[in-house]
Amino acid sequence: MLAIDSTRKMSFNRTISNGDLAIVYARHDNMKPVTVSEGSVLQNRFGVFKHSDWIGKSFGSKVFSNKGGFVYLLAPTPELWTLVLSHRTQILYIADISFVVMYLEIVPGFVVLESGTGSGSLTTSLARAVAPTGHVYTFDFHEQRSGSARDDFEKIGISSLVTAGVRDIQGEGFPEEFAGLADAVFLDLPQPWLAIPSAAKMLRHDGTLCSFSPCIEQVQRSCETMQSNFTDIRTFEVLLRTYEVREGKMESLEIDGDDGSNGSLPPCKRRQRSDGASVVSYPSSSSVMARPCGEARGHTGYLTFARLN
Ligand SMILES: C[S@@+](CC[C@H](N)C(=O)[O-])C[C@H]1O[C@@H](n2cnc3c(N)ncnc32)[C@H](O)[C@@H]1O
Repeated sequence: MLAIDSTRKMSFNRTISNGDLAIVYARHDNMKPVTVSEGSVLQNRFGVFKHSDWIGKSFGSKVFSNKGGFVYLLAPTPELWTLVLSHRTQILYIADISFVVMYLEIVPGFVVLESGTGSGSLTTSLARAVAPTGHVYTFDFHEQRSGSARDDFEKIGISSLVTAGVRDIQGEGFPEEFAGLADAVFLDLPQPWLAIPSAAKMLRHDGTLCSFSPCIEQVQRSCETMQSNFTDIRTFEVLLRTYEVREGKMESLEIDGDDGSNGSLPPCKRRQRSDGASVVSYPSSSSVMARPCGEARGHTGYLTFARLN
């Protein structure tokens, strides 16, 4: 996934080999992870695709079926993996993940501690953020879940960046060997306040903590606990609005303000409304329209960040 070569440099110009994992992309809502295996075929409504035709092509290639149908073969980036992984638990999605990586200030070389591992959705992004010299240590008390996550990390090529351990973090805390060494800690646990004192012990001075909780009562209790060792405690709820972009016919259109002078819209007439607003009219034409998606995801949870005193 991260295409880290033996010199630990990242390369994004990779070709597909036998045994690689590829994301078979038909549409943004129709993707599937497939392990490339010479001699195997992929069959879907677009026809039959021979894996042997894929080997040697670069990630991103368009490949054709026996019926002339096509799909794209994409590299399993963290963004795509989050969309196709098997959900063994609730997972973090892209909006929350991006915010976490940014607000925890994660950069290459960082040591990050995480619990619980869950389905490993966040872990893959943490791994890319710390690569090529950092490391993510992720813990879950559910042995089978931790094992499945470890298998996934191997499959998508990040096992050199992640160690998945089995441990009750709420009961035992993080292992003592990490005391003072973690640059950032992330918690997605049912009772995070039980693990916060251990997180404080693990963090280096000025290190950052984030706790994800679906309920505000969990947030309140976590914040109370954080007050003993942390400063700059802030809670966010990340709400994402997705738009569907479609080509269609517009009869006539009136927009406040924009005169289309940046070239993105066809020539138009501008007039002043009685309330002072400037309205721009476009003649009827075929155009690209964007409207909010009906299936937009609402509340996922609250993200509480804090910095060690
Ligand atoms: C919601 S999932 C985490 C999902 C993960 N953030 C992701 O993006 O895929 C919560 C995980 O915490 C684990 N867990 C619950 N209590 C725990 C504890 N005391 N110690 C370690 N892990 C725990 C659960 O087994 C579960 O896998």
